[in-house]
Amino acid sequence: MHDGPVQDIFAALSQLQVLDRSLAADPTAQQRAGQAVRLLERALGEIRNFIGVFRPPGFERRALGEIIEGLAVQHETLTDQAIELDLPADLGDCALPTKIAIYRILQEALANGHRHSGAARQRVTVDRRGSSLALIVSDDGKGFDPQRVLASEVDVGVEGGHFGLRGIQDRVEMLGGTFAVDSAPGRGTALSVTLPAE
Ligand SMILES: Nc1ncnc2c1ncn2[C@@H]1O[C@H](COP(=O)(O)OP(=O)(O)O)[C@@H](O)[C@H]1O
Ligand SMILES: [Mg+2]
Repeated sequence: MHDGPVQDIFAALSQLQVLDRSLAADPTAQQRAGQAVRLLERALGEIRNFIGVFRPPGFERRALGEIIEGLAVQHETLTDQAIELDLPADLGDCALPTKIAIYRILQEALANGHRHSGAARQRVTVDRRGSSLALIVSDDGKGFDPQRVLASEVDVGVEGGHFGLRGIQDRVEMLGGTFAVDSAPGRGTALSVTLPAE
């Protein structure tokens, strides 16, 4: 995910800070500018949390299901997109590397489904399959050609919070899981990942 909105808010903040200094003669205007700065700072914090620049606190303590629910709620709050969550009550917990991987992957998949699909909703299914956990994120949006995207040289790496499809694939392979994207123009997208639970 490129950091477009974060950079825009940053730019708006520095403009406002300059403005704030030049408004010293007008206390009311200066107060308003100060309020705008605080609002933007809060938004920036929330977006950063959302895109995972910072790991949410209590990651080790919180159960997998709770973390997934938290992300789904955050997504619905910060976007106009609904999340249909399909989580078994007895999902249980998993090893920390898998938990972090599922968190990052879900975050990126949801961001993609929001930025690229045009769909009004996304579906998230998590299930235990023997000693593995399966995660499916799907939408009925405009779809794309995964072959082309995954073969291209651009869009690699995790620097600056950027973590695209290739990053998901690498992360899954590192943990010995499986990765598949089922998508075609006009047909929607389903990203399926399995990871060892322990
Ligand atoms: N859910 C989706 N619906 C439609 N297109 C998608 C979806 N997910 C990914 N894509 C396509 O795959 C491309 C690569 O995605 P990604 O690797 O995450 O990079 P980025 O999101 O930074 O563009 C996107 O630019 C988009 O064209
Ligand atoms: Mg992306």
